[in-house]
Amino acid sequence: MSQFLPTAPYRGTRDFLPAEMSVRTQVFGRLYDVIERYGYQRYDGPILEPVEIYEAKSSREIVEQQLYTLTDRGDRRLALRPEMTPSVARMIAGNAGRLQFPVRWYSHPNCHRYERPQRGRVREHWQINVDVFGSDSAACEIEFFELVHDLMAAIGATPDMWRLRVNDRVLLDAMLTGVVGIGADAVRDVAGLVDRWEKYPADKLAADAAAMGLTDKQFDRLTEVLAAGRAVLDEIPGEVKEQSKLMRVLDSTAADLVTFDPLIVRGFDYYTATVFEVFDTHPDNRRSLFGGGRYDNLVGLYSAQRIPGFGFGMGDVTLFDFLGTHGLLPEARNEIDVVVIATEAELADAARTVARGLRGAGVRTSTPLDIRKLGKEIQRADKSGARAIVIVGRDDWDAGTVTVRDLASGEQRQVQADATPAEVRSILDS
Ligand code: HAM
Repeated sequence: MSQFLPTAPYRGTRDFLPAEMSVRTQVFGRLYDVIERYGYQRYDGPILEPVEIYEAKSSREIVEQQLYTLTDRGDRRLALRPEMTPSVARMIAGNAGRLQFPVRWYSHPNCHRYERPQRGRVREHWQINVDVFGSDSAACEIEFFELVHDLMAAIGATPDMWRLRVNDRVLLDAMLTGVVGIGADAVRDVAGLVDRWEKYPADKLAADAAAMGLTDKQFDRLTEVLAAGRAVLDEIPGEVKEQSKLMRVLDSTAADLVTFDPLIVRGFDYYTATVFEVFDTHPDNRRSLFGGGRYDNLVGLYSAQRIPGFGFGMGDVTLFDFLGTHGLLPEARNEIDVVVIATEAELADAARTVARGLRGAGVRTSTPLDIRKLGKEIQRADKSGARAIVIVGRDDWDAGTVTVRDLASGEQRQVQADATPAEVRSILDS
């Protein structure tokens, strides 16, 4: 055994070094800008929650297999949040008296799920959550579909790179009971089967269907209906369709924003109607990027007031896989713009004075912490992406001047010390 502790992070979690963090920050910043342009306000909450908030209404898979749980010193059962929706529902219910509905909120929590790490799945991911509370209008659906299009455009994605697939659980239930002829008691299990449809081979699906009590004829009919796309809507009774907010979208000009697809179910028990997922269309990465839907009864776990919700969660792992696959990752930002180098230890104070002036003018500036040979220091500045260096040498400084060098062109000028910010700025802006 090694005498040292391992440096790798816990399996399924990640360290983010500054270069990667710079790329992430740029991408997230673009997404936050779009979300805020729609009037969503950022909130946050605790990473630890009572385990009951997931047990009450979430997903069987998450509660039984994926929760990180612990018991605190007061014997309270807690979980690391696997998602944000139960937390935000709790916060909305607890503050409803003070809020003006509809409430538009977003957050960017880290979430923990005990999963087998694989492409697109880890044990700690960061998830941008965008949710609206307090509206039953189909205008929510339309706002979110437009928002998704603007978010994808903001990260540089063109419409051929992805697809927004939508369904409605009310329509799905009517399809399973009315069109396929499944008993009401089996609907939940069969909906789970539909959710796995694209992930499992046909023989496994058939075996699972048989175990749920479906006849071969029903299974064949289910297969047919799921492949029918929008045509299945013709077989659903008018009075069911009238209840569906998604149908209102599909009958409006906003229909162009989405593709109706009976295969979209989503795994959570709390979704009540519209559900949607954004899929990558690239052959190397055909997978779901993010998803969400309408959950009209979740806040009802905490309060008698009826407050419908609608929203989605966008995970960082699938997002960055998408950006990588399509060559859309931005460059990491350089570490520093200017390095102020003193040629001897006695000039360190002078270099710090010049650096303070530059920082005061808003320029990212560092000074070496140790005195090294000028040539070495210039190489280091270049490597960290600096655009310019300022050399503080004895004779210059005694004459009240410094030397400013443009590292790209190699040109350098001697300027009055107090003119350094203006000189550097002209290099940065060139
Ligand atoms: P979810 O589909 O479970 O929904 O997660 C949303 C997104 O988070 C996924 O599409 C994926 O990008 C990312 N994600 C989830 N689990 C993992 C994982 N183990 N590793 C990496 N990424 C992951 C929800 O969580 C809902 N609460 C979303 C929502 C918000 N619905 C309404 N509002």
